[in-house]
Parts: sequence; structure tokens; C-alpha cells
Amino acid sequence: MTSFLKIAVDGTSASGKGTLARRLAQQFHLSYLDTGALYRAVAKHILDQGGNPDNEDDALKSAIFVRDHFSWEMLEDPAIRTDIVADATSRSSQFPPLREALIEFQKNFASHPPHKPSQKPWSGTILDGRDIGTIICPRADVKFYCDASTETRAQRRTKELQEKGLNANLETVLQEMIERDTRDQNRTKNPLKPAEDAIILDTTSLSADEVFEKACDIIRSKIA
Ligand code: DC
Repeated sequence: MTSFLKIAVDGTSASGKGTLARRLAQQFHLSYLDTGALYRAVAKHILDQGGNPDNEDDALKSAIFVRDHFSWEMLEDPAIRTDIVADATSRSSQFPPLREALIEFQKNFASHPPHKPSQKPWSGTILDGRDIGTIICPRADVKFYCDASTETRAQRRTKELQEKGLNANLETVLQEMIERDTRDQNRTKNPLKPAEDAIILDTTSLSADEVFEKACDIIRSKIA
């Protein structure tokens, strides 16, 4: 039995990976890092500075800033969730220097998650993103790769945005999702792809509860 559990969750946008990772973190008392939020915080910083997300130097400067002035509030800022920031993130995160600047931070979190003395020690860590199973935690105990049909993911994202009171249109969301997926999967540095030993979870026709139960069964069988 592993004493410190490391779980990698990768997948396409709106595939359910964030919801799954958050629930698994709670269930197994794991420290959680949403690495998409980290890349989003960098993109927001580029925009706030009047920079260009398609410019490698601007992207690197902001990655170094976010890494060196990191606070958890940066990842909880609702402003990183807008469509403008999502688009800028998918552009800026393709640059190798930006990704390099964030690698050590993520690896360090995976091995030594921040911990308060008053808190029960973590049983492990869980990170979700695009290159967790392949680059950040290649030796994770369990690797999941979540995916769903593009239409299903676009429907989920549209509903999510509308529930937040935002004006979202299915056709536009679908188009933007295809563009972002294409960029994530085709960038030269650490593209989105399942690790060879990842367990694929196709969430197209599964509810969030079903995905969670399935993942819990897999983890329990691995750590038994
Ligand atoms: O998971 P998300 O939608 O919050 O991710 C936002 C963007 O960040 C997405 O376009 C891909 C990028 N990203 C990345 O390149 N590598 C990661 N580990 C996480 C996210």
C-alpha cells in the first residue's frame, strides 16, 4: 500500500476532470492543485499588464511573476474564469519558456503540498490539468484521463456559464472549444495527450456521481 498517494487527472476542457479531482481530494484527504487555474492566472496577469498572450516574452514575464509572487487567492479569483482569459490561456500556455517556468512549482506541490500544523497530514496530492500524468507526475499512483464528446462538453460549458448569469451561446462555445482543444493537443511542448498508463474515463454518458464512483473503485483497488 502506498503511504503518500499521488493522483494525476488530465483531460479536455469541460470533460469533468476538475469536478472529479475536487471530489477525490475530499474523499481521500488529498491536497489539490488545479493547474489550469495557474495557467489562467498567468494569462490574466499578461492581460492586466497590457501584454499580448501571443507574445512569448510577455508570457514568460507573467509566468515568472505569478510563480514568484504566488498566492492561493490568485487561483480563486473569479476573473480568471472569463472567456477572454480562457482564450488568452490557451494561447500563452503553448510557449515552452512559460511552461518551463511553472514546472518546478507544480512538481514541488505534488511532492510537498502546503500544510497547516493544525491540520491532519495529507494522505497525498491530486493535480488536474493537461500534462500531469505525462510531465508533472509521471510516476503518479493513479492516472485518469477524462474526455467526452465535443458536443456534450460544449453543452456542459454553456449551461455552466448560463448558470453564472453569463450570456453563452452553444454554437460559439462549441467553436471556441474546438479551437482550444486543437491548440492544447497540437502544441509542440507537452501537448494534451493521455499518459500511456492512464485510465480513460469517457464521461459522455455518465453523471458526475457515476464518474466519481468509478474513479473511487479504481483508486481503492490500486491502493488495497
Ligand atoms: O483546465 P482549464 O480549462 O482551466 O485550462 C485552461 C487552459 O490552460 C487550457 O487551454 C490549457 C491550459 N493548461 C495547460 O496548458 N496545462 C495544464 N497543466 C493546465 C491547463
